[in-house]
Amino acid sequence: MKVYKTADYAAMSKKAANIICSLVVLKPDCVLGLATGSSPVGTYKQLIEWNKEGYLSFAHVKTVNLDEYRNLPVTHDQSYRYFMNDNLFDHVDIDKSVTNVPDGMAADIEAECKRYDALVASLGGADLQLLGMGHDGHIGFNEPCDEFPVGTHLVDLDPMTLEANARFFDNDPKKVPNQAVTMGIGTIMSAKKILVVVSGADKAGIVAKALLGPVTPQVPASILQFHPDVTIVADEAALAEYIKEGGKVCD
Ligand code: GLP
Repeated sequence: MKVYKTADYAAMSKKAANIICSLVVLKPDCVLGLATGSSPVGTYKQLIEWNKEGYLSFAHVKTVNLDEYRNLPVTHDQSYRYFMNDNLFDHVDIDKSVTNVPDGMAADIEAECKRYDALVASLGGADLQLLGMGHDGHIGFNEPCDEFPVGTHLVDLDPMTLEANARFFDNDPKKVPNQAVTMGIGTIMSAKKILVVVSGADKAGIVAKALLGPVTPQVPASILQFHPDVTIVADEAALAEYIKEGGKVCD
């Protein structure tokens, strides 16, 4: 696992964008696994800038997103499909028909989960999966639980997650959809490379736990310790606990 420390969110975003950019340049038809949340927004902004400058093209890139709220129409500005269009796809030269987000509106959600797993498998898995990290250590929407879920599945969101995401729903946790469809830990771990972006002092405790603590489904991100190619790009504030507890960072 490589851990890079940056001064702040802006530097974190630039470094993460550089890592994604290098992959797309070397493999223009790569499969990118993408994430939502505040953490990757700056990374997407940087990628858009380089795309506009003609330095980077998404013309042959395919994407698979981690997750989607249950029963939130794609036209809702907090749906993850809307987020991805708004924060990346609408601003770059990607073919939107090969950008994939789980269908949270599907009537038969079990069939949708199976379809999504088959789709990811048919693409050969993600060449790189971008991740943020929730305050409870969730990745995608894999909340703390007793066993690591393997495939795409429906989850009940934790009160901590509803609280954290209330900022996007008029600061009212009751307005946050209480379920979501998410790739499983097995799907995430099947990515060839994993890139995690984390920022802010409020994530310092969970970052230390996930990277240095025991690997347990109670801290879903701890599973990343077992992946052969993980890069963490985090700002100083998010790494404070990790460094205090003796965690190593790259030069
Ligand atoms: C959200 C998303 C995750 C995201 C995480 C952290 O609920 N489902 O994919 O990584 O929580 O979000 P943020 O980056 O806003 O802190």
